[in-house]
Amino acid sequence: MRFTALIFSAALLVPLSAMADEDSVPPVTDPLTKKECGACHMAYQPAFLPAASWREIMATLDDHFGEDASLDPETRGQIESYLAANAGRGRARRASPPLRITNLKWFTSEHRDHEVTWLWKNRNVKTMADCAACHRGAGRGYFEDD
Ligand code: HEC
Ligand code: HEC
Repeated sequence: MRFTALIFSAALLVPLSAMADEDSVPPVTDPLTKKECGACHMAYQPAFLPAASWREIMATLDDHFGEDASLDPETRGQIESYLAANAGRGRARRASPPLRITNLKWFTSEHRDHEVTWLWKNRNVKTMADCAACHRGAGRGYFEDD
């Protein structure tokens, strides 16, 4: 299934009209985001979450999934603007936007087949948040195969 279709069926995000071609997700182009948000894990492409999610993530960096990922206010503001401007177009529930890509409905349904299990074991993957462990092209926005 194509990413566009997955997003659509998730009913959380509408199709990403900004996508360069339907098999890739626009890569992170902002150097500051790449640097600061790529320090501990891959800098996730903004289209994977709606703007409300990015805002919530950026507002809680001091307790970021158990880590302190705080930034100075100016850097934080710049990154938040970039992420929000390039976010997925969906409307998230205002009260509690999703903070994890790996918890989204399309994600869990796309990641429960034997191929995922096989890769998980064979590449000694520690967390589903480590996209690049299985998708070698993840940083460039490619999530088909490999
Ligand atoms: C100090 C290390 C660190 C930095 C810097 C950092 N993160 Fe994280 N981030 C983590 C950890 C740890 C997790 C949880 C990973 C896991 O569940 O395996 C995480 C998870 C995430 C997730 C959820 C992944 C999922 O499960 O779908 C998002 C989204 C995210 N980070 C965004 C950001 C953004 C945006 C920035 C830059 C402002 C950033 N992170 C900077 C450590 C960091
Ligand atoms: C343990 C391995 C593994 C990890 C970790 C993983 N994936 Fe996947 N992913 C797969 C496999 C296998 C598929 C199915 C590939 C296919 O459809 O050809 C898949 C499918 C996808 C698809 C659908 C591709 C398509 O167009 O059919 C997307 C998008 C995706 N993954 C994104 C991610 C993101 C984002 C992360 C990190 C937050 C991630 N994956 C982490 C193994 C993994």
